[in-house]
Amino acid sequence: MSQPQPDPAKLAAARAAVALVQDGMKLGLGTGSTASVMVRELAARARAEGLSLRCAATSKATCELAESLGLSIESLDDIGWLDMTIDGADEVDPDLHLVKGGGGAHLREKIVAAASQRMVVIADPGKVVEQLGAFPLPVEVVQFGFETTRTLIRRALADLALGDRDVLHRLKGSDPWVTDEGNWILDLHLGAIPDPVALARALSAIPGVVEHGLFLGMCHLAIIGKPDGTVVRLDRNADIDADMLAGEGD
Ligand code: A5P
Repeated sequence: MSQPQPDPAKLAAARAAVALVQDGMKLGLGTGSTASVMVRELAARARAEGLSLRCAATSKATCELAESLGLSIESLDDIGWLDMTIDGADEVDPDLHLVKGGGGAHLREKIVAAASQRMVVIADPGKVVEQLGAFPLPVEVVQFGFETTRTLIRRALADLALGDRDVLHRLKGSDPWVTDEGNWILDLHLGAIPDPVALARALSAIPGVVEHGLFLGMCHLAIIGKPDGTVVRLDRNADIDADMLAGEGD
């Protein structure tokens, strides 16, 4: 069955990232709609050029997609240290801090990114923000003591002057949404995250929290695709050219 045409901005970002791949590389493959476009582009390039790649996937969905396209997926532990991970993001700020986990895969995504020499994020202009937090922050929590963990998260938010925010249990229909690791997700509707480092530290200190979706200091390069097929590359600490990106999100 033929695939619908991918969003041109996502395709541009994906192609630019895949162009960084070299024969023999060990790669981490991200999760989400943008990462899916990248996996298709990568598979096509690997096939066309006979590239020898070793790939680890950040989710079952990405593993299935990659294998269906002829890429061979191995476990992260079998591969070991990765040269590069290419992944999407829900938000990217000027320091290349990220919010991830809209697809619920941020736990494996963070483990894979942490095992990578380089994390390259691909996104459309709508993901670029001055301050993180408009996108609800996903927090993966264990099922045991779920309400206790939610209460502790609410207390931590109040301590950071982020009280009275919705902390919502992610559902699939009327059932809890279950991650690849068998955990549940709380989405923190914060509106803004003035101090991502403090929030990350506070969340990580709560016992029932497995992992939150703040990726701080992990992304080395963000490639922002634009609808006209061009890309803007954001290196850590580089100024974001708002005019260049304005109004071009999807
Ligand atoms: C998956 O859990 C996420 O971290 C995704 O990488 C992120 O949500 C971006 O997804 P899209 O490319 O679908 O927007």
